[in-house]
Amino acid sequence: MPVTKKVFVKTFGCQMNVYDSERMSEQLASHGYSETQEIEAADLVVLNTCHIREKAVEKVYSDLGKVRDVKAGRLARGLSTQVVVAGCVAQAEGAEISARAPVVDVVIGSQSYHRLPELLAKSRNDGGRIVETRFPDEEKFALLPDRRIEAGTGPRTSAAASAFLTVQEGCDKFCTFCVVPYTRGAEYSRSVAELVAETERLVARGTREITLLGQNVNGYHGEGPDGAVWSLARLIRRLAEIEGVERLRYMTSHPRDMADDLIAAHRDERKLMPFLHLPVQSGSDRILAAMNRKHTAQDYLTLLDRIRAARPDIAVSTDIIVGFPGETDKDFAATLDLVRGIDCAQAYSFKYSPRPGTPAAKLEAQVPESVKAARLTELQALLDSQQTRFNASCVGRTLPVLFERKGRHEGQLVGRSPYLQLVHAEARSELLGRIIPVEIAAAGQNSLAGVISAA
Ligand code: 5AD
Ligand code: SF4
Repeated sequence: MPVTKKVFVKTFGCQMNVYDSERMSEQLASHGYSETQEIEAADLVVLNTCHIREKAVEKVYSDLGKVRDVKAGRLARGLSTQVVVAGCVAQAEGAEISARAPVVDVVIGSQSYHRLPELLAKSRNDGGRIVETRFPDEEKFALLPDRRIEAGTGPRTSAAASAFLTVQEGCDKFCTFCVVPYTRGAEYSRSVAELVAETERLVARGTREITLLGQNVNGYHGEGPDGAVWSLARLIRRLAEIEGVERLRYMTSHPRDMADDLIAAHRDERKLMPFLHLPVQSGSDRILAAMNRKHTAQDYLTLLDRIRAARPDIAVSTDIIVGFPGETDKDFAATLDLVRGIDCAQAYSFKYSPRPGTPAAKLEAQVPESVKAARLTELQALLDSQQTRFNASCVGRTLPVLFERKGRHEGQLVGRSPYLQLVHAEARSELLGRIIPVEIAAAGQNSLAGVISAA
């Protein structure tokens, strides 16, 4: 189909949204849209949104204000613009978005992306606004077009050395702070056959590293080719057999689903990278119970001991929330203690944000903003020092680096170590998409720098 229209896609939130945006872009490409980075040039604007914390939602509404101005400006030039809100805010707030932001033509929940071209046409023809936030029975992955072998034109798809692959979606764990079970629905695992096919297509277009995504990815329980239910470990071992796949990663995991075979895969499977993002959320058993995490701080440390016994150099990353309702100074001290015990290679930390419809939002003992802010500052200082120390410990080592993109300086490439650290090195652009040994010469808080080892 000839390219006739331009689409501007902006992605908020987690990697799963990045994956979804890619799938939407590819689908729109087969309906004649090419991607643009200039919003003023776009016939179609897609905001793929995140609902996890209030700030993320506010950002969407402030962006919609800008989109309204762009649309008005284009209209003055005789150009029409369609505006789509997709993702988790769409799923959670549906019609409210249309009411608050009349600039939006189509609101589409994350389970209905396969219907986007059809809904765009309908809105264009009828001139009406559409809200589609059901959880349809038909399975969206089966109805989206196959991944394109040639990479797209967007900033992510052209750097295809590393790609995301959603293997599992939704969550049945119902942590009391979290909107995910409501926005992404019940846990669903894609079949092994479907994932093997998609991986083969990604590899054919040059992808070397695949990060398997799921809200509760280690709860993966997809149908195997033998008709049996396969675990994540089994899926990983199968994907590792595919020629051209050099590295596998997965995120995000729940401590309660770290099965024995997955831990064993970290010991045995060479292509599974020594990096684990395993959110713990709090170090206080009282708060962990109130969060419905169903494990204690000690359970988490014991689990880490087992994982580190299987893969001693594994780099651990976690998520932590400060200021969950009822969190006292003592609870927070327990979180700091646990973080010292974990020794994180990297981590994400957040102030608790009450989310409408979640049990914790209704609790009375909400923690004042100023207390949350002070705790976050203290926690982040500790986490930053751990990350800096971990990075420094890599200086002098030679690490295999997958080069993903050009650096800011001429002649420089940027890639990732096995431990997911960013690594800068002087390198010819032919090395993009390849895994090359790099001797690490310097380390900062957020990245490493090195020189390509003489072979
Ligand atoms: N407030 C703050 N942080 C949250 N997270 C999830 N829900 C909330 C919330 N209501 C954090 C958790 C989760 C990460 C993706 O976002 O730490 O692991
Ligand atoms: Fe949210 Fe993760 Fe808990 Fe699911 S397991 S409810 S995604 S924090």
